[in-house]
Amino acid sequence: MAHDDTVRTVRVPLGERAYDILIGEDLLGTAGARLAALFPGRRFGIVTDDRVAQAQLPRLRASLEAAGVEHAVVTVPAGEASKRFGQLEAVVEGLLAARLERRDLVLALGGGVIGDLAGFAAAITRRGMDFVQVPTSLLAQVDSSVGGKTGINSPQGKNLVGAFHQPRLVLADLSALRTLPERQFAAGYAEVVKYGLIDDQDFFFWLEANQAEIAAGGPARAEAVARSCAAKTRFVLADEKETGVRALLNLGHTFGHALEAVTGYSDRLLHGEGVAIGMVLAHAFSARLGLAPSQDTGRVAAHLRRAGLPTTLGEIPGELAPTAALMAAIAQDKKVSRGALTFILTRGIGRAFIESDVDPAAVAAFLEEMRAAA
Ligand SMILES: NC(=O)c1ccc[n+]([C@@H]2O[C@H](COP(=O)([O-])OP(=O)(O)OC[C@H]3O[C@@H](n4cnc5c(N)ncnc54)[C@H](O)[C@@H]3O)[C@@H](O)[C@H]2O)c1
Repeated sequence: MAHDDTVRTVRVPLGERAYDILIGEDLLGTAGARLAALFPGRRFGIVTDDRVAQAQLPRLRASLEAAGVEHAVVTVPAGEASKRFGQLEAVVEGLLAARLERRDLVLALGGGVIGDLAGFAAAITRRGMDFVQVPTSLLAQVDSSVGGKTGINSPQGKNLVGAFHQPRLVLADLSALRTLPERQFAAGYAEVVKYGLIDDQDFFFWLEANQAEIAAGGPARAEAVARSCAAKTRFVLADEKETGVRALLNLGHTFGHALEAVTGYSDRLLHGEGVAIGMVLAHAFSARLGLAPSQDTGRVAAHLRRAGLPTTLGEIPGELAPTAALMAAIAQDKKVSRGALTFILTRGIGRAFIESDVDPAAVAAFLEEMRAAA
């Protein structure tokens, strides 16, 4: 990880698909000059959502215009519902209508929804265009903009249609986070904590000590984003197509995705909030199986709570679907194969592992108990 005073660089050395993640203040304001130098003579199709278009697009466009970078804009409605075929079609048609050629680039300006949707559109438009990620949510800066997973949801489930397509560059502008709603910031923070819980105990302890400063902005926030990107990069390099260790990044996600599914992918529960509850459940379940010290569950929950995240089933607004519905959602998750459940379990903070033979009856009994306790 290299850094000068203003911009840190995390390199993703994937051979001919290698790219840099730049992390710093006002990268939107300097994007024009940077993109003109890196991709001379190319045009850009900016894909964004209507909220980010209001909050951040003017700054990006001004900088592209100042550098003489030609561009068109395609806007979709904000929210998870835009990760679907209808909006994919609108984006692809928008890029084609703007007469972007194969050598031109797509620029994804927004959170994980836009990164996943625009990245997938880039992968299939004109049989594959290059793209640049400009993540504006914390979740996108520390997780979804890195690693090349792109795609949309299907009525059958989340992220079931997509492609691996690595970006050419990631520009994570920390100043963009100033307009991000607090609840969204907290949701993204769950993914930061996840890296500590997987295999980096020291990072988790550092987060405990620095959480207030990270929330306030400043150097600790830059450090947290950079360390998260470096962690994600490690997993992507070890296992680009997720046939092995990259699955550890799903810590808390099997429970989390099921909770998202039964709450209808709505404002009732944001992705990161589902992950926060899911990580606590993964720790508690591991403790129940005698694998992990039970005090770690309390420590993880306390940290997430301090960051403004829910940690129990009881905090999900509205009535929670029955355990059978949760189990059906777990069985639909693509991390499950032929009846045996695959979970990321843990031996304690920073010691997660993949267990592919989890007994569904044990999970159902555990969930019943968690509901009763909530
Ligand atoms: N590809 C991957 O590897 C990967 C990894 C993790 C998550 N994801 C996906 O990411 C998505 C979640 O991402 P997300 O949490 O960023 O959701 P999101 O893209 O919906 O963004 C959250 C909300 O914040 C708004 N927003 C974003 N940046 C803003 C800013 N700077 N100022 C004001 N508002 C802003 C958006 O308009 C939206 O309303 C999910 O679809 C998930 O599946 C993908």
